[in-house]
Amino acid sequence: MSEMPLIRLRGVTKRYGDGSTAFLALKGVDLDIQRGEFVAIMGPSGSGKSTAMNTLGCLDRPTGGQYLFMGAHVETLTRDERARLRRRFFGFVFQGFNLLARTSAQENVELPLLYRGESAAARRVAAAKALASVGLKGWEHHTPAELSGGQQQRVAIARAIVTEPSVLLADEPTGNLDTQRSHEIMDLLSRLNSEQGITVLMVTHEPDMAAYAQRIVRFVDGLVSTDTRNAQPLLPGSYQPPPPMEVR
Ligand SMILES: Nc1ncnc2c1ncn2[C@@H]1O[C@H](COP(=O)(O)OP(=O)(O)OP(=O)(O)O)[C@@H](O)[C@H]1O
Ligand SMILES: [Mg+2]
Repeated sequence: MSEMPLIRLRGVTKRYGDGSTAFLALKGVDLDIQRGEFVAIMGPSGSGKSTAMNTLGCLDRPTGGQYLFMGAHVETLTRDERARLRRRFFGFVFQGFNLLARTSAQENVELPLLYRGESAAARRVAAAKALASVGLKGWEHHTPAELSGGQQQRVAIARAIVTEPSVLLADEPTGNLDTQRSHEIMDLLSRLNSEQGITVLMVTHEPDMAAYAQRIVRFVDGLVSTDTRNAQPLLPGSYQPPPPMEVR
């Protein structure tokens, strides 16, 4: 007997628009994700990766097929029910950080808790803890403009995990970062997965970043084309920056 996976997609389709302008971005996706997995989603531009992420994160509803999350049929839920599920179980990280400008790191991270109606004291404690867990203790009062790209993405990750989600969805989280900073973010995602048990689903175009995942799912033309295990995922801290060029 096999246990129900955390996430199960069966024949999931997503159509944008209708009539002659309709476009089928997902064409019948089957995918199971177990609790605690770290999965990289790859594939060419336009293959449906972000559409799949938005569907998985309950931001969007499939046009057809079934999405079971913890056994619940997401495709039958109302918008409000999906929002509740999303706020309780999912955290999101995007390529562009999406932080509020002129708002401190602390306040950015508190935001999801504000939506949940938590007290100021509880918000402060939880945000400080989340910022510490992404290595930003002492940076609480800086605004995004006063932080580097890598630090801004850390704030965004703190904001995504402050609600203690079961699943972290990251859509090209290193897309705007240089190599060193990208590996630091991957270290962090890898640690959140292994130490806190958060299921991580990450879209990336870079094989070097996908190498941290235990499994690589490749989308082509709105379908899963390959689904492979990575027997030896990169471990946090394994990246060695190239030695500095010698200057004479
Ligand atoms: N809101 C929308 N309305 C209409 N078409 C859309 C919409 N969002 C995405 N599409 C189309 O659906 C297809 C899949 O888009 P999606 O964003 O999922 O691709 P992707 O794999 O994430 O690509 P990229 O690597 O460039 O981010 C594309 O052809 C895109 O143009
Ligand atoms: Mg995309």
